[in-house]
Amino acid sequence: MQKRIVLGISGGIAAYKSAELTRLLVKAGYSVHVVMTASATEFVTPATFQALSGNPVHTALWNAEVGNSMAHINLTREADLLLIAPASANVIAKLAHGIADDLLTTLAAARTCPLAVAPAMNRQMWENPPNLRNIDQLKEDGALVLGPASGSQACGEVGMGRMLEPEELFEEVEAFFQPKLLAGKTVLITAGPTFERIDAVRGITNTSSGKMGFAIARAAVEAGASVTLVAGDTPLATPLGCTRVNVQSAQEMLSAVTERIAGAELFISVAAVADYYVLNQSEHKIKKDAHILTLELAPNPDILASVACADNPPFCVGFAAESENLLEYGEAKRKRKQLPLLVANLVQTAMGADDNEVILMDDDGQHRLPRAPKQDIARKLIAHIARLYPRWQQQRAR
Ligand code: C5P
Repeated sequence: MQKRIVLGISGGIAAYKSAELTRLLVKAGYSVHVVMTASATEFVTPATFQALSGNPVHTALWNAEVGNSMAHINLTREADLLLIAPASANVIAKLAHGIADDLLTTLAAARTCPLAVAPAMNRQMWENPPNLRNIDQLKEDGALVLGPASGSQACGEVGMGRMLEPEELFEEVEAFFQPKLLAGKTVLITAGPTFERIDAVRGITNTSSGKMGFAIARAAVEAGASVTLVAGDTPLATPLGCTRVNVQSAQEMLSAVTERIAGAELFISVAAVADYYVLNQSEHKIKKDAHILTLELAPNPDILASVACADNPPFCVGFAAESENLLEYGEAKRKRKQLPLLVANLVQTAMGADDNEVILMDDDGQHRLPRAPKQDIARKLIAHIARLYPRWQQQRAR
């Protein structure tokens, strides 16, 4: 069902970023209803938000067009979330004390839906003790406080108080609405390519973008898990809320995984790990000459197999990227690595793309997830893992 968000905008220069946030929310299918404080309209006009949301923008508590003069209750009556972004120090102070002297604060006081605030203010205002007390009070009252971030500010200073970027706020909203299927679980994920050094400037890598692994990390965070992402070289932004460990070679990835595996209940091995490393690496750049150059390659450790075949392993999920005989090779790999779940896809259509189409292989058989954005596939995969995990745990306990 379409989710309804009331987006409150208070007076701050970050109000312009909420135009982009509105666009992202609408594009993803949310129904967005914007409420602006009087000072917010000094920064951005209501017409901007009306055009982007496709809905009338509300600015006044008293609206003659609303029959029963109850605009404040009507607006949030069917809302799934009241998100205030930017939330100024003034609005935060009012919310923390139950002051309801304009439409937005009255809506907040009269709401039955959850409240999220994205603070945006100058560094000194953020650090002002009353503001920090108000933030604590809001958290205690059950509000979700998103950010702020640290960075350069409109006033020319650098510090804490910057509103999260629209993309980040959008991610937070998406996360908020996902079922908490992995609440309290600890998940370790590998993602991206590895890089095997040849000399000071060269190496062997592959075309893995890391997108699938990062999407899974994000889906696991959304599902309430505590997530560590061991990532090969990729420019992708770290999904909000997960801990990232950067590595290059397969050997480094193995060390990073080995160090952290004891605390993990689930291990999802998405990385495209190089099968070989270069034995005759050169410290300096290899000079060109007329001779044939031979690279000696030795097999890398199989990280997933070493985790899955150890005593008392976590629930392990492997990936099989094949260019042919997908089902046959996939099932053979699942058996060989002793995995309760394997995700098989064709390399031709998966690597680097934003979409994917996969087959989940487990003890019950095969389940096809048709072509969809990697984030959707990731959420479905997490839901599938959450279904299998309790059963797997029971079987192991026997
Ligand atoms: O055997 P193959 O490389 O096709 O297996 C793919 C799966 O194994 C993926 O889940 C990948 O992350 C993992 N893997 C690994 N270490 C390797 C090779 C693959 O963890 N050295």
